[in-house]
Amino acid sequence: MPDKVVYRDVSGSDFKEGMRHLAASVTVITVAHNGKKDGLTATATCAVSAEPPQLLVCVNKEAGAHDLIQEEGVFGVNVLARDQEDIAKRFAGIDGADRIDRYSLGVWTKIATGAPILEGALASFDCQVAESMTVGTHSIFIGRIVGINFRPGPPLIYGDAQFTGLSIPL
Ligand SMILES: Cc1cc2nc3c(=O)[nH]c(=O)nc-3n(C[C@H](O)[C@H](O)[C@H](O)COP(=O)(O)O)c2cc1C
Repeated sequence: MPDKVVYRDVSGSDFKEGMRHLAASVTVITVAHNGKKDGLTATATCAVSAEPPQLLVCVNKEAGAHDLIQEEGVFGVNVLARDQEDIAKRFAGIDGADRIDRYSLGVWTKIATGAPILEGALASFDCQVAESMTVGTHSIFIGRIVGINFRPGPPLIYGDAQFTGLSIPL
């Protein structure tokens, strides 16, 4: 039996409580613009198509990186490994560090567009914005993938409001 059943007038808190159960890989979306770098932790990242290679990200319009992605037309998506929880917390702004220090954790490089790419991420996708649309509080950016890195390893997962990993033998 569910703890709570809501058929209409779904509130923002109902939405968030329901979405807690949508466990997902944790990514860091990055952007660099005129010497300024920004980024955010995101789970709303999804594959779109292999031909052409595209993915999508949903970014809150209030996030510092949002307008930079719009202006620069590029972004990076870095899929975090199980041992990169500290980076996830840093880019979510929940570890108490100054936002100016976001890039002081980890080693950052570039591939094609100049968007920051995290060395040691399980996968990094370097993207040019192909399309975008505004949906409520967020923008959906469709990224055409123009550079890619990947390696094997266990992913960092966010589910039930906590960082965790897959419970399979590594
Ligand atoms: C696990 C996790 C997943 C998140 N997913 C998203 C997301 O998909 N899109 C988004 O806009 N914010 C997401 N956030 C929130 C941002 O990481 C957070 O608001 C960040 O501080 C935004 O950057 P800002 O400090 O520049 O506003 C997520 C946070 C966490 C902890």
